[in-house]
Order: sequence, then C-alpha cells, then structure tokens
Amino acid sequence: MVGASGRLGRYMVRHALERGYEVVGVCREQSVGKLAEFEGRITVVPGATDDRAVIARAVDGCDAVLTVLAPWGMNHYASGTAQAVLDHAAPDARLVFSCGWHITRDGKDVYPLRLRAFVAAFGRLAKLARLVDLDDQVEACRRIFASDTRWTVVRGSDLEEGESQGLPVWSRHVGDPVLASNLTRRVDFALFMVEALRNDELVRQAPAIVGRLSPSALAHAPADQAA
Ligand SMILES: NC(=O)c1ccc[n+]([C@@H]2O[C@H](COP(=O)([O-])OP(=O)(O)OC[C@H]3O[C@@H](n4cnc5c(N)ncnc54)[C@H](OP(=O)(O)O)[C@@H]3O)[C@@H](O)[C@H]2O)c1
Repeated sequence: MVGASGRLGRYMVRHALERGYEVVGVCREQSVGKLAEFEGRITVVPGATDDRAVIARAVDGCDAVLTVLAPWGMNHYASGTAQAVLDHAAPDARLVFSCGWHITRDGKDVYPLRLRAFVAAFGRLAKLARLVDLDDQVEACRRIFASDTRWTVVRGSDLEEGESQGLPVWSRHVGDPVLASNLTRRVDFALFMVEALRNDELVRQAPAIVGRLSPSALAHAPADQAA
C-alpha cells in the first residue's frame, strides 16, 4: 500500500487485512503514527512515496501494489510515485492506482459543468499557491495507461465518510447515467481498490466509480453489477 496512512489508505489496509493479505505500507515518516492501530499486523516502510529506493524496498516480493496517487506539491510527486511503482514492482504484479474522475483515459468522458469549473478553478489556484499540481496526476496516469503492466486506475467520484454500502458500481466513462449521482463512500472506494486485485476484468481499465446505493446506481446499474 503506497500512501497507506491517508484516509483512503487506512481503509484499504483494513480491507486487505480482513481478506488475509500480508500488508506492507509506505508512508511519509511524519505519518507513521497514523498507522498505530495496525501495529504488529503490517510492515511499515517510512519514506516519501516518490523515493525510488523506498518503493523498491517496499514492493520487493509483493504480488500486488495499491497506490494512492496524490497531486501534492510542485515536484512531480504523483508521477514520481507512479513511475517508481511501475519500475520496481514485479512484472506480473497486480497494480491498482487511485485518482479522481477528472483523469480521462481516452477523452470520451463527458463531465458535468460543475466538475469542469471546479477542476479549472481549483487546479489554477492550487498551482499558483504551489500546493497541488493536478497536471502531474494527469501525467502519472498517462504513464500508467502507456505501461504494459497489469494496472487498473480507479477513478473516484466526490467522496463522503459513512458506513459501507458495499462494492461501488463502475462505468468506463464519466457521463454514463449510472454515475450521475457523483458520490461514493471513501470506505467503499477502498473496497473497490482491494477487490480489483481479484477481478481480471479490470486489468488495463480505468473504471469510474459511484456509490452502490446512490440514486443513479440504483436506477442504472448493469445487471451483472447490481447482483
Ligand atoms: N477527496 C476527494 O474528494 C476525492 C475525490 C475523488 C478522488 N479522490 C482520490 O482519492 C484518493 C485519496 O484522496 P483523499 O482525499 O481521500 O486523501 P487521503 O487518502 O486522505 O490522502 C492522500 C495521500 O496524500 C498524502 N499527503 C497529504 N499531504 C501531503 C503532502 N503535503 N505531501 C505529500 N503527500 C501528502 C497523504 O499522506 P500522509 O498520511 O502522509 O499525510 C495520503 O497518503 C486520491 O487518489 C484522490 O485523487 C479524492
């Protein structure tokens, strides 16, 4: 788990442990304490997630790598993290990355005006403040999409906290009616990331997800996902 100490990361650790996986977590040194609840049950490798030596050590011997891609700072943190995972994970390892709906794989996503306006305004302001570089998260995903590894990029809708509703519903393109509610519980985003490890249908796919009990999912989920 790369980025194990964040909100999404800790939910992913919980799901993985419940499923009996052996977990190695990477997080920044100052965040190790956020993993205290897992002490003795996971191995923690402290360090920046774009540090190639840290990632090489952490992924050694792992069958799968789940990575939280976060667009922090102006030093190519997301693309550096993705590249380190792509380069150092075993060639046949299952790789699952998280990002938001704003990432498009094939340009066929149709975004709500509200989301386009938010990404444009937030992206510009955050870049000016040198806090967040959304373009670097786009670059990270471009590299993943171009790689011949066994990747999945899970694109999250808006997120909220709350009890699990079960496995989110997904579609290949934002704009599909099933995604219209644009809301997923963070605990279920993590569930989707962990369950993707066992779903080969998702290899080299960039599913956009939405909460299972959201109105659009209830109205439009395809039969194979509604079951
Ligand atoms: N928030 C949303 O509404 C939303 C919507 C759609 C998709 N997503 C996607 O969901 C994933 C998780 O997002 P989240 O909002 O729930 O975040 P999160 O899991 O709480 O944190 C994300 C990661 O960012 C790291 N981080 C925080 N500040 C940092 C800094 N200054 N420098 C380097 N790393 C830093 C955190 O590490 P530490 O523990 O060390 O702080 C953590 O690993 C991301 O891939 C995001 O793109 C989020």
